Amino acid sequence: MHTILDQLETRRAEARRGGGQERIDAQHAKGKLTARERIDVLLDEGSFEEYGMLVTHCATDFSMASQKMASDGVVTGWGTINGRLVYVFSQDITVLGGSLSETHARKICKIMDMAVRNGAPVIGLNDSGGARIQEGVASLAGYADVFKRNAEASGVIPQISVIMGPCAGGAVYSPAMTDFIFMVRDSSYMFVTGPDVVKTVTNEVVTAEELGGADTHTQKSSVADGAYENDIETLEQVRRLFDFLPLNNREKPPERPFFDDPSRIEMRLDTLVPVSASSPYDMKELVLAIADEGDFFEIQEAFAGNIITGFLRIEGQTVGVVANQPRVLAGCLDINSSRKAARFVRFCDAFSIPILTLVDVPGFLPGTEQEYGGLIKHGAKLLFAYSQATVPMVTLITRKAYGGAYDVMASKHIGADVNYAWPTAEIAVMGAKGATEILYRSELGDPGKIAERTKDHEERFANPFIAAERGFIDEVIMPHSSRKRIARAFATLRGKSVETRWKKHDTIPL
Ligand code: HXC
Repeated sequence: MHTILDQLETRRAEARRGGGQERIDAQHAKGKLTARERIDVLLDEGSFEEYGMLVTHCATDFSMASQKMASDGVVTGWGTINGRLVYVFSQDITVLGGSLSETHARKICKIMDMAVRNGAPVIGLNDSGGARIQEGVASLAGYADVFKRNAEASGVIPQISVIMGPCAGGAVYSPAMTDFIFMVRDSSYMFVTGPDVVKTVTNEVVTAEELGGADTHTQKSSVADGAYENDIETLEQVRRLFDFLPLNNREKPPERPFFDDPSRIEMRLDTLVPVSASSPYDMKELVLAIADEGDFFEIQEAFAGNIITGFLRIEGQTVGVVANQPRVLAGCLDINSSRKAARFVRFCDAFSIPILTLVDVPGFLPGTEQEYGGLIKHGAKLLFAYSQATVPMVTLITRKAYGGAYDVMASKHIGADVNYAWPTAEIAVMGAKGATEILYRSELGDPGKIAERTKDHEERFANPFIAAERGFIDEVIMPHSSRKRIARAFATLRGKSVETRWKKHDTIPL
């Protein structure tokens, strides 16, 4: 009996050694953790249950029969984050470069299937040289099996990808189909074709970091939602995000204890909007003032700064925030901000997360670059996402809400439940100057007259009262009472239910 128990311990120890001490040391020397160490940081202490530790591949070509290693380059199983169930896979780059074999893929698919059946999120820790070259098309088939599952699980369970090393070729497409991607600065990269292929095909000389590093994907491409300094910080941030999310699309997000008065008054908000309508201010101040304990988890902070997206809690309940940021591009909607916000709204709606929209938007960004880039289609994504959302939605207009952007930013007309405005709100078809110049074109030669007409127009239309008179704004509220009014509004919406017409799926302007 003892011999068999010892045998198990020996096999387990062998599996834990992965590709051997030398490779583990090399990983540590790069400032990276091993696949198992990462799981230990991500999950609650002692909660990890591993499945498939003793699994090995069954390839024989290229003398692979003599290169079998327990776990086959990926550690899979489940555990908890602050007591809530989560399935995890963590690729082990010390084993054949973390490359994906048929068996490796099967292990990932197995825990994805369990996650969907049991209604729990999947977190993938990616660190891999891509398809296992020795297995040829079998490894491509393995990737495709994972891709298909990513698509099927989308909107059913949250899926989070963490890029903690190389992620190249088709390997990037599984993370791309998940809900959030986080990267580790200086040690992770993602690209479809690497720098060598780029040089051959396009003659461009580019480093791996420039082509697909964390800065590239958080600032330029928007493929990644956040980047952090090292493995530990990244995994801790994933834990933080996880706490905002429901386990699946049939459950509500978790409710956390809160120690912040929902009726908290913030007098500083009364002077947040500057006297001059064209001066910027920081919308994040309002976001933080509304959040329980000022805790806000921002998504895509480094991309399209003219719109802010992220999660906070009000009365302990998760709320997704979409807010125009007047400090960047005057808070205009452009291609990037529309795409960013649309994706966020879709996620919130899929997972029953109420949406708070804070509006200060002078309109869509004009210009050939925007029009040629398809601003119409991209702006329509945000309009579509809001129009289709059925979760509780509360909107607060702080200053400008002009033109089409007024309609798009969760107006009452496209489905918001409670719409507030501060007295400083300006809800109009366009700014007073532009409007006057169109309406009184014949007087353009007389600047004094135009200035007078502009002032007149401003006084008549640059306010929230006409919209409030029509009932498009439910109430004009004092800035200092924003948290209280928003909290009360969301409280009334907890039982919201909306009937939707049957359809196979929509045709969102992708
Ligand atoms: C098989 C691989 C491998 C792979 C690495 N190894 N990648 N084995 N298939 N894809 C093996 C190496 O042969 C080596 O084995 C060991 O892993 C460590 O690799 P090194 O190169 O020595 O390590 P390092 O310098 O740390 O570099 C790691 C790496 C690099 C960055 C991952 O190996 C690399 O660039 N690999 C190839 C990446 C790539 O081009 N992938 C695309 C594949 S095509 P020994 O025995 O010598 O220790 C693809 C298409 C998928 O993914 C399409 C899906 C639809």
